[in-house]
Amino acid sequence: MTKATIDDIDVAGRRVLLRVDFNAPLRDGRVADDRRIRGALRTIRALRNRGARTVIVTHVGRPNGKVDPSLSVAPIAQRLGELLGADVPVAADVVGPSAKATADALGDGGIAMLENVRFEPGEESNDPALADRLAALGDVFVNDAFGTAHRAHASTEGVAHRLPAVAGYLMARELEILTTVLECPRRPVIAVLGGAKISTKLGVLTNLLQRDDAVHIGGAMACTFFRARGARTGRSLVEEDQVDVARGVLELATGGRSTLHLPVDVVVAAEASEGAATEVVAWDLIPDDGMVVDIGPQTVAAIDASFAAAGTVIWNGPLGIYEIDAFARGTREVARSLARSDGFSVVGGGDLGAAIEAAGVADRIDFISTGGGATLEFLEGRTLPGVAALRDREVVSP
Ligand code: 3PG
Repeated sequence: MTKATIDDIDVAGRRVLLRVDFNAPLRDGRVADDRRIRGALRTIRALRNRGARTVIVTHVGRPNGKVDPSLSVAPIAQRLGELLGADVPVAADVVGPSAKATADALGDGGIAMLENVRFEPGEESNDPALADRLAALGDVFVNDAFGTAHRAHASTEGVAHRLPAVAGYLMARELEILTTVLECPRRPVIAVLGGAKISTKLGVLTNLLQRDDAVHIGGAMACTFFRARGARTGRSLVEEDQVDVARGVLELATGGRSTLHLPVDVVVAAEASEGAATEVVAWDLIPDDGMVVDIGPQTVAAIDASFAAAGTVIWNGPLGIYEIDAFARGTREVARSLARSDGFSVVGGGDLGAAIEAAGVADRIDFISTGGGATLEFLEGRTLPGVAALRDREVVSP
């Protein structure tokens, strides 16, 4: 069911409580990666142009219900102000007297931001009293925080039951694209899954194995599969308690609709540090004193070849220790290959989005999700509570 959006409600002169996910990395008091802020600009501009009085709510980090000045939204509001060319005042609290005064002071088209909503102990427990107090600051609720939609918190779920609740444009676009690639993609569909741990990717892996035509595995996660196939993995990161699980996934893939591809070669190093000597070895010849830090060139070529005929590509998780430049080559080359592909390309969230930007090809990827955990849960086929709580769009028969 499609969710109602800001196009389905009248916001002129009304107080709009806008939940965004501006949980961005901060460095030296500045926003180090503003992709999530840029992602919500279309919604914020539309609300301003339509005369809404917009009260922005976000969390930053995990302050666990306590005030932590190093996680104030002030640098976020400053960056938003720079992007909008307008001042974004920040309330000194979340639902206290400052929040109320800040919201009350807004004129038509005005915007302001509340302090980090996770400074409130009731946020993560979805406390009804906090949801009531947040709801008192708005006449309608707009959720554009796709990245936090997998959390049933007071500002994502609780408040949505207390006000007319609709999606912002970013939320709507995330849902549209991710639903399409899951439910009715252009075939063949090629999935690429990386990252360190099979335990965090198991849900998405089993779901995609049942839907997609081929799934390529990269990242340290591949080592747990190598072990399941009986290979030695040296000092590589292996989830010992997941080796049987990996064996089960390999069996599931045998004779299923999807082909599961593990790396055929890998880059190994003596240690995970810049400047460490590396060598490329076959997947079953990992030396006892080496650790896998990246996929090898033959594996990159195999992924590249499968992209050539792809109708859709879904990629989640980096393929090596991409934070270390020398071990980022696999991720970078697959990103460039994806940029050349004619398939519809969707990259799922978090760190990988930053790695794609660093590879200089972000503008040639069809869609880079702003979600991390939310994107994963969506691709697992789970219902996201922050989405479920929003109004469905009414379908009017002709
Ligand atoms: C994210 O960065 O994935 C979201 O902002 C959610 O953050 P959380 O994992 O701390 O709930």
